[in-house]
Amino acid sequence: MKYIEHGPGTGADTLVLQEAATPRAGAHEVLIRVAFAGVNRPDVLQRLGLYNPPPSACPYLGLEVAGTVEQVGEAVTRWKAGDQVCALTHGGGYAEFCVADERHCLPVPAGLTLAQAAALPENYITVWANLFAGKLVSAGKSVLVHGGSSGIGITAIQLAREVGAEVAVTAGNAHKLEICRRHGATHLINYREQDFNDAVAEATDGRGVDVVLDMVGGRYIEKNLRALALDGALVQIAFLEGSRVDIDLLPVMLKRLNVTGSTLRARTPQNKAELIEGLRAAFWPVLEQGRCLPLIHAVMPLAEAGRAHALMESSTHAGKILLEVAPA
Ligand SMILES: NC(=O)c1ccc[n+]([C@@H]2O[C@H](COP(=O)([O-])OP(=O)(O)OC[C@H]3O[C@@H](n4cnc5c(N)ncnc54)[C@H](OP(=O)(O)O)[C@@H]3O)[C@@H](O)[C@H]2O)c1
Repeated sequence: MKYIEHGPGTGADTLVLQEAATPRAGAHEVLIRVAFAGVNRPDVLQRLGLYNPPPSACPYLGLEVAGTVEQVGEAVTRWKAGDQVCALTHGGGYAEFCVADERHCLPVPAGLTLAQAAALPENYITVWANLFAGKLVSAGKSVLVHGGSSGIGITAIQLAREVGAEVAVTAGNAHKLEICRRHGATHLINYREQDFNDAVAEATDGRGVDVVLDMVGGRYIEKNLRALALDGALVQIAFLEGSRVDIDLLPVMLKRLNVTGSTLRARTPQNKAELIEGLRAAFWPVLEQGRCLPLIHAVMPLAEAGRAHALMESSTHAGKILLEVAPA
């Protein structure tokens, strides 16, 4: 099969198509003929050598795919050859074939294309795990989503709005903020022009928000604590500007704050399976009714994975970037 090879710590232009043996599904796995693969920021970090995949993972890039089941392992009960699925992979999605745990596959929601389905697993499972599985976000709550126009951000806005929460976002320009507004954000903060603490205080009459979903870290961490209301929660899903800071934790005590976070990839297969079940029950019917659909910014051929990474690194995109492998 063809797959995308990358060297550790390399530039986007070094991503190249190579040939490798097609993997076979293990007992509880399915082999997927990939139609589309999602591009995610963790792929970029892995290519740069800043994010090491777990030792058990496939070393190739690619955390999510959609396609057709080609072969199933001998103990697989949920899927058969020919089924169309989207899947969270343990690496290896930038390829013509990819294996996935049978529990980490989901049916393509009725009415969605394979391209749309490929945009779901990583973002929807991450947002489900961090905002909904622990019941942090529900009707009447307020959420501040940093990086509102990212794949994760657009998903968080839509799912939070779907359950009746109010959403504020930060983004780096007016165009991105307009996209956030169209997906349901009601408070738009251009962080290059306005301090987000001032904007949150103004939008909430000084009360603060119930939840902050943050991928920036660094100097944002102390400001996030300031932006939270009593009993609020800071949820950290990445540290684009660093995880080491010298901050005053007094607000944690005074406002009874929760500081939490998680990373999807490090979870056990069983834990991922439970999250996927929860997500499917709560939001697959919503997708099938045509709501909370993923925003796809660009689709590029697998061979142009380097261009897709360069686009993501430019941060000029809004929503998902996909690789087209072999549309079914
Ligand atoms: N914990 C988990 O399980 C998990 C799973 C998946 C992804 N993630 C993380 O979630 C984040 C979003 O992922 P994604 O795939 O949706 O990526 P993405 O679309 O590239 O989003 C990154 C966003 O962060 C914003 N940003 C703010 N400060 C930045 C900085 N210093 N450098 C780069 N971007 C900055 C950018 O928007 P502006 O231009 O508006 O600043 C950009 O839209 C990533 O950090 C990723 O690592 C975490």
